[in-house]
Amino acid sequence: MPATAPTLDHLRASLDSIGQGHVLAFWNDLGDAERGALLAQLAGLDLGGVPALVAEYVTARPDPRLPAEIRPAPYYPNDPAASFRPWDRGHFRAVGEHLLRGGKVACFTVAGGQGTRLGYDGPKGCYPAGAVTGKSLFQFFAEAIRKTGQKYGATPAWYIMTSPLNHGPTVAFFEEHSYFGLGRDGVRFFPQGVMPSFDMKTGRMLLAGRGEIATNPDGHGGSLTALKVSGALADMAGRGVEHISYFQVDNPIVRVADPVFLGLHAAAPDSSGEMSSKMLAKAYPEEKLGMFCVADGKLQVIEYSDLPMERQRERLPDGRLRFLAGSPAIHAMSVAFVEKVTGDPRFALPYHRAEKKVPCVDPETGAAIKPDAPNGVKLERFVFDAIPLAQHSIVYEADRIEEFAPIKNAAGVDSPESSRKIQTERAARWLEASGVAVPRGAGGEAGCTIELSPLTGIGPEDLVGCGVTIARGASVAI
Ligand code: UD1
Repeated sequence: MPATAPTLDHLRASLDSIGQGHVLAFWNDLGDAERGALLAQLAGLDLGGVPALVAEYVTARPDPRLPAEIRPAPYYPNDPAASFRPWDRGHFRAVGEHLLRGGKVACFTVAGGQGTRLGYDGPKGCYPAGAVTGKSLFQFFAEAIRKTGQKYGATPAWYIMTSPLNHGPTVAFFEEHSYFGLGRDGVRFFPQGVMPSFDMKTGRMLLAGRGEIATNPDGHGGSLTALKVSGALADMAGRGVEHISYFQVDNPIVRVADPVFLGLHAAAPDSSGEMSSKMLAKAYPEEKLGMFCVADGKLQVIEYSDLPMERQRERLPDGRLRFLAGSPAIHAMSVAFVEKVTGDPRFALPYHRAEKKVPCVDPETGAAIKPDAPNGVKLERFVFDAIPLAQHSIVYEADRIEEFAPIKNAAGVDSPESSRKIQTERAARWLEASGVAVPRGAGGEAGCTIELSPLTGIGPEDLVGCGVTIARGASVAI
């Protein structure tokens, strides 16, 4: 759709007035299709808000304004008999199982990230994560959802947030794998929003090409708005779903719909049933996990990069870290809560700024630029910033080996290798609990590699009577 002259003049003037006139620098070189695409991109952006964003986040570095008083957040300990906070696991499990049986729970995976750290060329959910079979992250989640359906008689609907950059390949992957047995109606995909990427020095929007603004997904915090505008929220309500089990795409052993957590979220006396979170005890002070804190009277997550390291190293008299509660980014949210916050015209989670290398074209010459140092600022919203919007929000301690084996980096911490080890250790624990002998080394480590299909088990109780034999050095998929 070519712009008519008056429209173009008007657009040029308004872009000039906000210091972004360079976006049309190559207009005369563009074909009709490219012009149409650029106009559509511009129409999708809140241009009026750009100058304030640039001033606050791009050309200046906002201070992480830490609240004056920050305390560690209380949490429900993994051991319900822990003396500092005993609680009734059986009761809350029953509440969660009741929700699952009634079809009141949907699973929600945020899979719109760019996964640059892993260096994998494709949607991260397609990454071969299985320790033995190399099955994809998406297949792990699909199998866990199917098993949940088998156990509770109602299969949770699965919602997957993509980004405009990986939506097509993600849907094609599911088509190719026949939706992993969930059926086309069992999985809904919707793309999240994007933000322009800005030049770090000038605050001008970077150009990905002569007729294209460089953009980035607007962060997993964009998921709340995306749930609403995509119609996913209405779809959930139409299916009778009341609660959303939220998890990231990077963790193959995540409990996709944990009845104990869902029960606490929905029924704990100090929970408003709006937004709840799991925590993991940080393994060491420098571990890069956001931390649950209470500040300004509200539960919130403070990113590891924002809390001074001396605070992160503080210890309790018994030697435990004071700020122990790290975030594995696993939440439960009620449909009503997402409806409430996104229905408020003032709803806007804060932006977080990240300096990145953004390939672009020079707006003066059109030459391609491949930066070897960060040249751009990406702005993202984080979902955990919605926690303080809940009236009363609870945190439940998860066990690391039981449910956290993320794949984020190509090597080292949180890599395919470390994930394989945790997958094996968890399977070994569950097998041993059901009487199967697992070969172990002198240091106690498993002397084999085991991949457990969620269809075989999503909890240790599913492996009772599972008669396998595992030889030292073997690689087994069960
Ligand atoms: C994240 C959390 C951190 C937490 C850790 C646990 C942030 C800022 N940090 O770190 O607090 O302790 O996980 O593993 O979130 N995503 C989108 N759209 C986007 C951006 C991300 O869907 O625009 C999705 C990704 O696909 C992924 C998840 O969000 O599933 C996490 O994104 P990522 O940027 O990898 O966060 P981490 O640095 O791993």
